[in-house]
Amino acid sequence: MDIICTVEELRQWSRNLRGQGKTIGLVPTMGALHAGHASLIRAAVASCDAVAVSIFVNPTQFGPSEDYDRYPRSFEADYVLAQVEGADLVFTPSVEELYPNGPGSTFVDLPALSQRLDGHSRPGHFRGVTTVVAKLLIAAEPDSAFFGQKDAAQVAILRRMVADLRLATEIVVCPIVRELDGLALSSRNQYLSPDERAQALTLSRAIHEVEMLFLTGEHHAAALIAAARQILAAEPAVLVDYVEVVDWSTLEPLEEATPGSLFAVAAWVGSTRLIDNTILN
Ligand code: PAJ
Repeated sequence: MDIICTVEELRQWSRNLRGQGKTIGLVPTMGALHAGHASLIRAAVASCDAVAVSIFVNPTQFGPSEDYDRYPRSFEADYVLAQVEGADLVFTPSVEELYPNGPGSTFVDLPALSQRLDGHSRPGHFRGVTTVVAKLLIAAEPDSAFFGQKDAAQVAILRRMVADLRLATEIVVCPIVRELDGLALSSRNQYLSPDERAQALTLSRAIHEVEMLFLTGEHHAAALIAAARQILAAEPAVLVDYVEVVDWSTLEPLEEATPGSLFAVAAWVGSTRLIDNTILN
């Protein structure tokens, strides 16, 4: 497995392989890789001839009071995981390499969609995500790029971006990987104390309850939201940011959930903001 740091090397790597008729998969990450990331790399390896994993803690998607500085960084362990899962290349650019004229010089922005869900309480977050992912897709021109349903709003926004920019990359979505007790894996779970870790389980409990209610015929968004809020409220230390039922492509709130609707939750557990969701079916 090769490790490269420049956009030009990424472009060359991809160009070479494409010249040989090979298909390319890209797995964008911010590192601190866990089994959720590993599942994306495995999916990419299974369907593409060559797979690049990018590891870049992207400053433009963090707000001024967010955790950019303390975001977990574990490059050595990340390289090992990427290699074990079969990646061919790791791309770890510096901030100066990806933002040669400084972060904020050019943005790719979806002004309407990026206000929804997490975009509401994290202004500028999705604009940072679309900007960095656009840079990666333009440089690597992958056939497919792999993302987790864990960040379901991110997926909707990136799909729209790829359509709007008419990029040739297919956005592939992989299921949420969870701990045995239900907690969705996240690099930010490292921040949780043992007590907070236990409190955080209310998120996946709420998601599970909503899945059960939907299965038994409850389709009113208000009822699903109320049921989830009740479970989250059982843990006073958990502060709800949002609980929403939305259309998974427009991210518009729905009154009635249908199969394929996105049910999404965000909540603070202590100083850690966690998200979870399900696609109702
Ligand atoms: P990061 O949080 O590192 O996540 C990288 C990818 O891993 C995302 O597509 C995310 O949805 C997926 N992922 C995280 N936890 C997962 C889980 N439990 N199960 C399945 N997939 C999971 O998302 C980002 O980085 C950034 O916003 C990025 C797209 C790299 C742009 O900077």
